[in-house]
Amino acid sequence: MAVLKSFYGTMPDGKEVELFSITNNNNVTLQVITFGAILQALYTPDKFGRLNDITVGFDSLYGHVNFSDYQGKTVGRYANRLCHSSFNVSGNDVQIEANEKGGNCCHSAGEFSDVVWDAEIVGDNAVKMTYTSPDGNKGYEGAVTAVVLYTLTDDNKVVIDYDVVADKTTVLNFTNHTYFNLSGSASGDVLDHVLKINADYYTPTDSFSIPTGELRAVKGTAFDFNEPKTIGRDIGENDEQLVMCRGYDHNFCLSKKDNEPCAEVFEPVSGRTLKAYTDLPGVQLYTGNFLDGTVLGKGGMPMPKHNGFCLETQHYPDTPNHPDFPQCTFKAGEHFISRTIYEVGLQK
Ligand code: BGC
Repeated sequence: MAVLKSFYGTMPDGKEVELFSITNNNNVTLQVITFGAILQALYTPDKFGRLNDITVGFDSLYGHVNFSDYQGKTVGRYANRLCHSSFNVSGNDVQIEANEKGGNCCHSAGEFSDVVWDAEIVGDNAVKMTYTSPDGNKGYEGAVTAVVLYTLTDDNKVVIDYDVVADKTTVLNFTNHTYFNLSGSASGDVLDHVLKINADYYTPTDSFSIPTGELRAVKGTAFDFNEPKTIGRDIGENDEQLVMCRGYDHNFCLSKKDNEPCAEVFEPVSGRTLKAYTDLPGVQLYTGNFLDGTVLGKGGMPMPKHNGFCLETQHYPDTPNHPDFPQCTFKAGEHFISRTIYEVGLQK
């Protein structure tokens, strides 16, 4: 394998953005760019050997900068929502910038996803991206240095390693926000994809997508993916949570054992499969509910509702405001270390 580097685009302030491309022995190609440490594309063969990019998003920097719904982005320092954009860290009240209704903050208002990272090729199959967010950025306390290592293996795994450290006590919760469509990026919705999620509970939310604090059993509800079923089977149910969020946009509390995938997806026509692995306690299933076809994505094609699904490995949303959730506050110098794997394959 080899990592190829090329020019991707120029930011409005003149900064250059680079693209890195890695192809393995099975013709799987991973592309990443330095803006937002974005997973730009993932080309995989279907059961007939045809290659498609199975990620939904943009093929220009202009799209990523101006129209993004976080497609492919690395999100931190706190992925997902923080209620009223405030929380308490070791006795200090922290008030960060709000970017959503209700004065809430989602995805840390682009702290790590709307910036250009430094990049370095590592060996013949990996790229290391680094970005330091200064103390006070978006209202957070403490400078945070995040290192994200993207690796493509010959057994078709995209491995994303996070190593993040701050110089003051703060919350750390990093994720990747890729929208997958195993039929190929411009192939309509993902409602026919068969999904399994290894979770017995999920965190229902209020109308602003803030967890109420309840851990609700999935059993007997549309949220039970323990037995594989299509994403579309129950998405239209008259369930208050689904109606409010226009589909799945919820954190699942993982009940998997150590090396098991947290989620598995199969698309019957292409035969493609995707397995997601994480060492974090949750995964956000987001079914592209707010895509509405008005924004053009890759190849100039519209991105309609449910065009992709995200499996955002994470700590539960709004964790610092819920003492009962598994916590993610890190002291100065203490490292947030986490690994997410997206493994692609075929099922005959
Ligand atoms: C959130 C959605 C949001 C999407 C894009 C997801 O992680 O849960 O509510 O629309 O990101 O920002």
